[in-house]
Amino acid sequence: MKEKRVRDSYTEQVQMVTQAHLNGYGRLFGGTLMEWIDTVAVVCARRHSERNVTTVLVDMLHFKAPAHANDTVTLCANVTYVGNTSMEVRVRTYVEELDGEKKIINEAYLIIVALDERENPVRVNRLVLETDEERQEWENAILRKERRKKVY
Ligand SMILES: CC(C)(COP(=O)(O)OP(=O)(O)OC[C@H]1O[C@@H](n2cnc3c(N)ncnc32)[C@H](O)[C@@H]1OP(=O)(O)O)[C@@H](O)C(=O)NCCC(=O)NCCS
Repeated sequence: MKEKRVRDSYTEQVQMVTQAHLNGYGRLFGGTLMEWIDTVAVVCARRHSERNVTTVLVDMLHFKAPAHANDTVTLCANVTYVGNTSMEVRVRTYVEELDGEKKIINEAYLIIVALDERENPVRVNRLVLETDEERQEWENAILRKERRKKVY
């Protein structure tokens, strides 16, 4: 298999919150943000695996703070772990102020599986870890995997 670095598949998506994205309380609707998170994670996983992919599990989805109308919202996705056919992708979502300062509003981890032409799971490219943060994320992903084995 090919080896790819985390930065090779790093993916960003930028949105502006409009009235159509708001819930009854004037905040960004959680379901809309979840769709954006899934989309950016799927593109990241496609870039890593060079395959079509499907989301199998959202391990964690933490809404840490709200976003409001006219906010600039940036979603940042990177692969944290690869198994045989699955990838874990972390998505961090930020609200960006006009001066460029970013505040995190959501963090999520998604498990995404690569599919072959017959829609069967297929082996993914290996992940090259270059930084201490990437190595720490890999270790944390293993802990999450162990925890899931006990829960599901
Ligand atoms: C994803 C899917 C193809 C996996 O099929 P499967 O028969 O479970 O395949 P496998 O058992 O070989 O698992 C494939 C990989 O997925 C992982 N996986 C499967 N279920 C999982 C779960 N609940 N949590 C975490 N990982 C899971 C396996 O660990 C395996 O990873 P690995 O190869 O890296 O070890 C199948 O479950 C599916 O099509 N689900 C629907 C996905 C979908 O439609 N998503 C869009 C939502 S609308």
